[in-house]
Amino acid sequence: TGPELYQPERINSIGFDLAHLPTLDGIEAARAPFKSHKWTSEPLLARAANPNAPEAVENPADSGDSPGTVASASEEDIETALTYAAPWNAPAEERKAILNKVADLYEENFGQLFALLAREAGKSMPDAVAELREAVDFLRYYGANIPDAAPVGTFTCISPWNFPLAIFTGQISAALAAGNAVLSKPAEQTPLISHFAISLMHQAGVPKAALQLLPGAGSVGAALTSDPRVDGVAFTGSTATAMKIRAAMAENLAPGAPLIAETGGLNAMIVDSTALPEQAVQAIVESAFQSAGQRCSALRCLYVQEDIAKPFIQMLTGAMDALSVGQPWQLSTDCGPVIDELAWSGIAVHIQTARSEGRLMHEIATPNSGRFIAPTLIRVNGIGDMKREIFGPVLHVATFKSQELDKIIGDINATGYGLTFGLMTRIDDRVQHVTEAVGAGNIYVNRNQIGAIVGSQPFGGEGLSGTGPKAGGPNYLTRYTARPATQSED
Ligand code: NAD
Ligand code: ALA
Repeated sequence: TGPELYQPERINSIGFDLAHLPTLDGIEAARAPFKSHKWTSEPLLARAANPNAPEAVENPADSGDSPGTVASASEEDIETALTYAAPWNAPAEERKAILNKVADLYEENFGQLFALLAREAGKSMPDAVAELREAVDFLRYYGANIPDAAPVGTFTCISPWNFPLAIFTGQISAALAAGNAVLSKPAEQTPLISHFAISLMHQAGVPKAALQLLPGAGSVGAALTSDPRVDGVAFTGSTATAMKIRAAMAENLAPGAPLIAETGGLNAMIVDSTALPEQAVQAIVESAFQSAGQRCSALRCLYVQEDIAKPFIQMLTGAMDALSVGQPWQLSTDCGPVIDELAWSGIAVHIQTARSEGRLMHEIATPNSGRFIAPTLIRVNGIGDMKREIFGPVLHVATFKSQELDKIIGDINATGYGLTFGLMTRIDDRVQHVTEAVGAGNIYVNRNQIGAIVGSQPFGGEGLSGTGPKAGGPNYLTRYTARPATQSED
């Protein structure tokens, strides 16, 4: 007999190989029926719903296309959801089996999910593939790690539009795995994909009283975080909204009700003169411009050592010129649209200000229609010049002298954020020094700084970027149970 082989209880989703032509043909065939499909979204409640009148949902890449309509939750719907919410008291093994079934249904419905991700959220094909994988990984990871502890009770889960499937599913599957009742409030920009995902969860066997969907604007989220019948809140979105939720919870919820907040970042990368330039340029392009920069983890401020700055930035601008900005449905697109008019105009004003101040270093061509922003480089003196997170494909660049390393680490820490950080160097001592000195939840060395993998790279920030245990890590589920977390926060 041979050695006993290690059989992991759970493996990450294998996803799709986009370099394999038959796979691409299969994806095209599976999503083709949804190219002009119209979806609907409305509250999914434990009792009959009475929502507001339906409104059109926008396609961020094409003003001539609406992927469907959404009927937002009314006050009556919110009251119904709060009244009939009931924790999921099925045995842990049954919850795990149903979460695994949801993962299977997600994978079976990849064509429809990719179509929704493109038409409602503007996701390019590689982004859509990564997003589906992450969502499936969350379901299986939390299902395999159900804690032996009582649930908190009723959890409100509020998610952002930039990961309308992965983060949406991650919060809900964690709360459900622990046996809570979930009141789900998706981002107002992406109600259709959330409705389809919750329908699949109900189809797999999650009871309707344990999982209710309440689409709508921030006011729906505000109502669901300020009612004493809510026992805990999981929130992913901007730091400003997290602060409002914290205040509402302190005033209205029971003392000690958990708030799991995963918020924004002002993420930096340092490239010193020993870094491999080709490797660094590729990592920067992915970190700053993939997903059109609409990732909380995205690189916002790049520090390049002065000695190599000129040729290095030339190489970077050359790589930017090779990016294709355009329709997310097209396989050749690297960088899709930004999510809505408000986002577009805020980023455009920021770029225009830099242009008028003579700080624009490079930008590439974009389509004339739709909400596209050209991947852009803007010169800054340092991260201290950045007053807020610019949530788009805009990279700020500063140079530094070797002796200034500790000063820039101080400046990075002084922002108060602490989500991701990247370091490109071939000096071992420097890796140790810098990674110990920078305060960030996820630190990456000699690679890109986006795309954390569930189960092997738990993801989450510190300071203004988040409240604690990382998503996709071993201690995350303890925050969804009545038992206080006693282990380390990683
Ligand atoms: P947002 O804060 O505007 O909205 C997030 C959600 O909160 C939406 O569902 C919105 O309707 C809801 N909301 C708004 N006001 C509310 C209120 N008063 N009470 C309750 N809910 C309310 O954020 P966004 O623009 O959707 O997302 C982008 C932000 O999310 C960026 O700052 C990004 O960095 C952050 N983000 C963080 C992570 C992370 O893991 N740290 C991941 C993704 C996105
Ligand atoms: N978890 C996502 C990433 O790592 C936000 O990019």
